[in-house]
This record gives sequence, C-alpha cells and structure tokens, in this order.
Amino acid sequence: MKNIVVLISGNGSNLQAIIDACQNGTIEDAKVTAVLSNQADAYGLERARQAGIEAVSLAASDYADREAYDKALAEQIDSFEPELVILAGFMRILSDEFVRHYQGKMLNIHPSLLPKYTGLHTHQRALDAGDKEHGTSVHFVTEELDGGPVILQAKVPIFAEDTVEEVTARVQQQEHRIYPLVANWFLQDRLMMENEAAVLDREPLPPHGYA
Ligand code: GAR
Repeated sequence: MKNIVVLISGNGSNLQAIIDACQNGTIEDAKVTAVLSNQADAYGLERARQAGIEAVSLAASDYADREAYDKALAEQIDSFEPELVILAGFMRILSDEFVRHYQGKMLNIHPSLLPKYTGLHTHQRALDAGDKEHGTSVHFVTEELDGGPVILQAKVPIFAEDTVEEVTARVQQQEHRIYPLVANWFLQDRLMMENEAAVLDREPLPPHGYA
C-alpha cells in the first residue's frame, strides 16, 4: 500500500476526489495517509477527519520565515513516508529547497491551460480575455512557479453569458476527473519526471502534456 500526503489550504474538493479514488480503486493500492494545511479552518481538514485520515495544520505565523516553515512542513510530510505528495489548492509559495526535496514526486493542479495564466485569478482572467476555451493542468512541481512539466490537461468551453462561478465549477468538475488518473499513473510507476520532462510509459510527453 503506497502512501499519499495531500497539502491543502481550503475546500479540499480535489482532496475528496483523491480520497474517493483510493476507496473506489481508481487509484490502486494507495491511501491518503495525511492531509496538511496552512489554514487551520480549511474545510479539507474536516473532510480528512471524516475519512479517518490524520489532519495537521501548520500556521505560517508560528514560524520566523519561509525557510523555517518549509522545514517544519517537510518534517511533517516525511514522517508519513509518502511515495507521492499532492498539492491540491495549497496556496503558498514553496521555497526552492523544499521543492528540490520532493523533485519528481510532487504534483500540483493549476486551474488554467498552462502555460497560460500562471498565478492567481485564472478563471476571471480567462473571462476577461474573452477566451472561448479554458481548463486545468496537472504538472510536476519544479522551482519555477506553475512552470513544471505538464502531464495532463482538461479543456472546458467558456460560453458567452458565463459567470466566474460557472466557469470555476466546470473546471473543477474536470479536475476531480484528471487528478486521480495522474496520481494513479505515478503510483503505478508509469509516470516519472526525467530531465525536467514528464515521461509516461517511457514516452516523453508533449511540452504541455496530454489534453
Ligand atoms: C483548485 O481549483 C485548484 O486548481 C486551485 O485551487 C482550487 C482548490 O480547490 N489551485 C490553485 O489555484 C493553485 N495555484 P479545492 O480546495 O476544492 O480542491
């Protein structure tokens, strides 16, 4: 049984999708061992407790600086001996040292069709730009913010009268579908990062992953 540690800051709907996938076999022979949050009131921590999973919160205000915080976070994560670390709406910048420590075994989901719209407010930015198409990307985490090799993307349409809430919901529905798939590829040793490229079944993926 392989261990997954999930980092969150909020609602945790992607966390829930990963938990459910471990239970229904979409992710094979793995379990979420711990959920860590930088926000004590994150609803995702409640989801973890309800699923009988260890829920830990670490407040940034308890640490002198980012390095000290990331060191404490890494100590917590490593105590659960994860094969895979999943960022699921973890809204903190990570130090280079932290990222290097988990190089090749940490995934993130970002709510845009990377390389478009790195950073925040991606749905609003897609709407403001008049985009007809938007989506989400699962990628390996590297030192470049939202810049690691993309593994899989899901596209959604944007319709003329859409609100940001409608677009968010449409994107998140796809996130809950693709994140467990990618996690399973990784845990079945089908997916790895080599020379900063994503490799699936020994084939290097196109620069922006599969869509
Ligand atoms: C997700 O839509 C994820 O793509 C996004 O936060 C949301 C978390 O939702 N992540 C980022 O913006 C990272 N830069 P959730 O807590 O319900 O899973």
